[in-house]
Amino acid sequence: MASMLHEATIYVLGRSATRFASQRMKLESIYPGCNIVFIEVEISLLGEVDAACERIVGAERKVDYFYMSPGLIPLNGPEYTKEGLEICFALSYYTRMRLVSNLLPLLSQSQHPRVLSVLNGGKEKAIYDNDIGLAKNWSPIAVINHTTTMTTLSSSTSQKTTSKSPSCMHSPAGSKRTSLPG
Ligand SMILES: NC(=O)c1ccc[n+]([C@@H]2O[C@H](COP(=O)([O-])OP(=O)(O)OC[C@H]3O[C@@H](n4cnc5c(N)ncnc54)[C@H](OP(=O)(O)O)[C@@H]3O)[C@@H](O)[C@H]2O)c1
Repeated sequence: MASMLHEATIYVLGRSATRFASQRMKLESIYPGCNIVFIEVEISLLGEVDAACERIVGAERKVDYFYMSPGLIPLNGPEYTKEGLEICFALSYYTRMRLVSNLLPLLSQSQHPRVLSVLNGGKEKAIYDNDIGLAKNWSPIAVINHTTTMTTLSSSTSQKTTSKSPSCMHSPAGSKRTSLPG
């Protein structure tokens, strides 16, 4: 994607600028002169997500492309952030929806706004309507089913409520290109 951009500013949100350094070098070699702004943020915390978005909203007039893939395979049982959200749920759903909603004003200034969310393998399934946050019914499969279905429902709702909506692509992670033979 970096090779297709011209005079773009790329914001990267992550937990460690030091860990991002090698990726930054790769991007700069593909796209010399690109303006990469790394914002150090604990992405599982909505307060930090809001602060990062405020920086972007304060500095930019529009957002054309928005890509997100934070996530954790739910293997360790439920774990909670200091804001009280289950962490897999926070990364796969709450953080992503908050990012989209905070950046929607800038996305709607773009001629062709696009949002790509790399989330779970699989498709939407039935969810526990009376236990949306899985306080009583947490399991790895339930987290995957809830965050997948809720992402689709929220994306459809935001498409109906905004006058100019970004194209929303919810892509199963199986289509991701990796170095693994397959
Ligand atoms: N790769 C697969 O085979 C596969 C299969 C099924 C589903 N998925 C899902 O597809 C998405 C992308 O996959 P991926 O392999 O690119 O994921 P990944 O590299 O394991 O993780 C993506 C990002 O999530 C953030 N993250 C992970 N644990 C975190 C934590 N405890 N607190 C805050 N941030 C955390 C990390 O951000 P930092 O940059 O801050 O470290 C990381 O860059 C994820 O949602 C993953 O669950 C992947």
